[in-house]
Amino acid sequence: MKFGINTIQIEAADAVIIPVMHKEFEKIEGFENTIKHLFDTEKFKAECGEIFVLSSLKNDNYQNIVFVGIGKEKEVSGEKIRNAFSKAIKKCRELKVEKVFVNNIEIEGLNCNQVINAMVEGIGFGDYKFDKYKTDKKEQKDIEISIGNVPSEKDVKEYVSEAVTLVQATLFARDLVNEPANVMTPKALAKAASNAGKECGFKVEVFDKAQIKELNMKAFLSVTAGSENPPRLIVMKYFGDKDSKEILGLVGKGLTYDSGGYSIKTNSGMVTMKSDMGGGAAVIGAISAIAKRKLKVNVVAVVAACENLISGGAYKPGDIIGSMAGKTIEVLSTDAEGRLTLADAVYYAVSKENVTRVVDIATLTGAALTALGITTTAVVANDKNFYSELEKASFKSGEKMWQLPAFDEYKKLIKSDIADLKNTGGKFAGTITAGLFIGEFAQKKPWLHLDIAGTAWRDNEDGYYSKGGTGAGVRTLYYLAKNE
Ligand code: BES
Ligand code: MN
Ligand code: ZN
Repeated sequence: MKFGINTIQIEAADAVIIPVMHKEFEKIEGFENTIKHLFDTEKFKAECGEIFVLSSLKNDNYQNIVFVGIGKEKEVSGEKIRNAFSKAIKKCRELKVEKVFVNNIEIEGLNCNQVINAMVEGIGFGDYKFDKYKTDKKEQKDIEISIGNVPSEKDVKEYVSEAVTLVQATLFARDLVNEPANVMTPKALAKAASNAGKECGFKVEVFDKAQIKELNMKAFLSVTAGSENPPRLIVMKYFGDKDSKEILGLVGKGLTYDSGGYSIKTNSGMVTMKSDMGGGAAVIGAISAIAKRKLKVNVVAVVAACENLISGGAYKPGDIIGSMAGKTIEVLSTDAEGRLTLADAVYYAVSKENVTRVVDIATLTGAALTALGITTTAVVANDKNFYSELEKASFKSGEKMWQLPAFDEYKKLIKSDIADLKNTGGKFAGTITAGLFIGEFAQKKPWLHLDIAGTAWRDNEDGYYSKGGTGAGVRTLYYLAKNE
């Protein structure tokens, strides 16, 4: 897919996408009467996501006009535009078009960047499919998209370029998650990160098992012990502001597969567990976008990649293990493995890479799904200002986030009688205690924990989400780093 501005004249397009607001026909130059007629005859009401296709013949040229409803003007949001445009591009695919003219629209309450961003993202996300393992698929034609009716070509060019980068980074993260665990091993994930580094302009250092041992990452090593595919510690660095000492740390959970270990999952709990590196995919995607856009910030991203499997060498419930930070941990469940790998990865970022603030992002707890469902990412934080920056970033991306309480009382739940910490906090408040466990390794730096167990994966296609990996977190982390 190729995006441009005014690169295709409306007459030369074989499809024209026209966003229409509820009861608004005067705004759409050239189509006022048509839309008024559709409204009057109730053929089209411009409900959000509603599509009406008008096929016309002009000077022997066949053209599809794809009207796409975006709802009432006062209620239009970036998310609504993304969902509506994902439907519009799917319709264009059905119509087998190749040259698409998209009509930009002015919407009260949204600025031009927000509208352009949402249109481009909706089209990009809506056109995504993970079908590389289908042997009977037809090659799809490359669609050329041109956005017209824009106020300033120069400004809009930047908006489109940023949105395209965010689409690519998000779809890259979706691809990483959708690859099955027999392909996307820790080694393969490291290779994917290295390739992204070369393409987007950031440095990648990969530590093998011997080097991880040297670093004394005992908690991380315990999780990988049962696996024949060796672990990798992936460290990615982008320094875009040499004058600043501030370094943002992004740490992503990188379980390329989570069987639960000896605290084994059920089959249905296991089938989607290739997605347990969704946090890792998010930080690789985010730093790719940050580097590509050459943001004036310093970022170090870390992924401790491994599998959680069973063998004679695997760790067991009841074991007491160490950690890079020196804290001892009583393992009550081998299925609470993510926090063990993240404890070492977060401590590594703070102690060896000197990050001044740290965000971890992880498919960490089923309890996050229970509490917030698949729409909202759960957040635990130790710093009010840092959380408000995240909130601001999430408003830009449209990715919904909600902060959970982190009162000291919850910390008692992860104190062990025979070690410093235990890796589960009991039946209640599972997302909070899991987050706070990781927070113990952040060395009091401003820290945010994003639990994407609910938001990283979709069982069904829905609006701009495809079935499978969602790329959750990529865009929010990008805006958090950009911090405008
Ligand atoms: N990777 C899972 C969490 C998960 C569950 C992600 C469902 C996506 C969908 C994590 O490693 C896990 O198993 N967590 C346990 C923790 C428990 C043993 C304290 C859980 O949530 O059951
Ligand atoms: Mn687990
Ligand atoms: Zn897990």
